[in-house]
Amino acid sequence: MSRDAERLQKYISRCGHCSRRRAELLIEKGLVRVNSAIVDQLGTRVIPGKDRVTINGVKIRLPKSLTVALHKPAGFITSTHDTHDRLTVMDLLPKRMIESGVLPAGRLDLQTEGLLVLTNDGELLHRVTHPRFECVKEYFAILNRPPSTRELEKLQSGVFLKEVGKVTAKAKLTHVRHRKDGTATLHVKIHEGMKRQVRRMFDVVGIKVTYLKRLAIGGLTLGDLEKGRWRQLASKEVQLLTGDGKGTTASGQGPRKTGEKRRVRPAGSMKRRKRRRSDGPSGQSRHR
Ligand code: URA
Repeated sequence: MSRDAERLQKYISRCGHCSRRRAELLIEKGLVRVNSAIVDQLGTRVIPGKDRVTINGVKIRLPKSLTVALHKPAGFITSTHDTHDRLTVMDLLPKRMIESGVLPAGRLDLQTEGLLVLTNDGELLHRVTHPRFECVKEYFAILNRPPSTRELEKLQSGVFLKEVGKVTAKAKLTHVRHRKDGTATLHVKIHEGMKRQVRRMFDVVGIKVTYLKRLAIGGLTLGDLEKGRWRQLASKEVQLLTGDGKGTTASGQGPRKTGEKRRVRPAGSMKRRKRRRSDGPSGQSRHR
C-alpha cells in the first residue's frame, strides 16, 4: 500500500463530511463506496486524489488548501501533539481546522512569540521551511546588552553554531536601539530555520536574547493579529509568504516593503528614535 494511503474514516473526516466516529458509522452501515465497491469494514485505506470515495452516492473530496496565520504566545510548543502533555499551538485552533490537516510551517520555541503559519498545503509548507527557497523570517529581539559594531558584523556574516555544527548564512540586523536600562533591541532577518537559531547566534557573541517575537515570514507581517488569535489567509496573502523570489531573500536581492532601506547601524551610533510601527502592535514600550 502506498505511503500516501490513509484510513477511510480519517479521509472522510478530512473532507469535512463528518467526524471520524460518524464516518465509521457510515462505513458500517454500508453507505460508503470506494471506487464503486461498498466498503463496510473498518480498516480500509484510500489514496487521496486517486481513489474515488462516495457517501450515499455523492462524491466527497478534500477541501481546498487552507492556510492560517497564528499569533503564537509564549508557553505553547510548536508541535501537533506533546508526549509531556504540554499545550501545543494546535490547542489554539478550532477542531475543524485541525481536522483539515493544517501543520505548522516551521517552528517557534516555547518562549518565542509571534507569527506562525499553519497550512495543509504540503508544497507551501516546503517552500516556507526549506532553506533552499530562502524565505526570510524577521524577528524583534530584546538583548541583555547592546552588540558592538564587530559583533554585529560577525553575526551578519555568519557564525558557527556548535550545537548544530553549521555556520549560519548571512543575516540582516537592523533597527538597533540602546535602552536606558542597558539592554538593547533590534530586528533580525534570517532565512534558515535551525533550532533556536537567533538565540544561539547571539549566544556565540556572549549576548542573551531575553525576548523574541517573529514579525514577518516572507512578505507576510503579523500586523495587528492579537496574541493567541489566528486568521485564515486569503490566497494573495499566501502568495506573500513565498513571494516567488521577489524581495523575500535575506541577501538583499529585491527590495522589501518594510524597513529594508535602512542601513545596519553599529551599536552606539544610533540616535534615539520614536517607536516604529514595524515592531508590531505590542510595541516596544510593552516589551520593556
Ligand atoms: N530563533 C530562535 O532562537 N527561536 C525561535 O523560535 C525562532 C528563531
